[in-house]
Amino acid sequence: MGARGDSAVCLFVLNGLRMADILVLHGPNLNLLGTREPDVYGTEDLASINARLAEAAEASGRSLDSFQSNSEAELIEKVHAARTDQTQAIIINPAGLTHTSVSLRDAIAGVAIPFVEVHLSNVYAREPFRHHSFFSDLAVGVISGFGSAGYDYALQLLLNRNH
Ligand code: DQA
Repeated sequence: MGARGDSAVCLFVLNGLRMADILVLHGPNLNLLGTREPDVYGTEDLASINARLAEAAEASGRSLDSFQSNSEAELIEKVHAARTDQTQAIIINPAGLTHTSVSLRDAIAGVAIPFVEVHLSNVYAREPFRHHSFFSDLAVGVISGFGSAGYDYALQLLLNRNH
């Protein structure tokens, strides 16, 4: 990822906004991770995943913010905010919205921030309706089927990307 200029940092602080280099977005029902269909999605909960990602980003001198919502509108607003808050890359698991949401796709296309699409399960080994994604053709890459480790792989990819 590119270096952030001092002026951008100052502007950011003056605006009172929170700065994060990397934004992790989790779609509907991922708040239930840990108890939700553990045979499909594993037993690790979202707080644990988010904490591990933030720690790994910090160890590389980057900041990372995580956000989960069951609301498509809130996720769209968060993507819009990323356009002006210096977010440099996004990791997104759109969950069920992967297969349905033109609006969230349009939001992420509109802000033109590079992103990695992550799925805990291998969506291609599941029901046919999960085989189509409204995001994959825009993504830097897609990681599907490696459980919560997929988020770690996505983060490493982004951290190494522009060194
Ligand atoms: C998911 C796969 C989606 O099909 C599903 O609707 C989810 C989670 C995954 O992480 O494997 O909610 O994105």
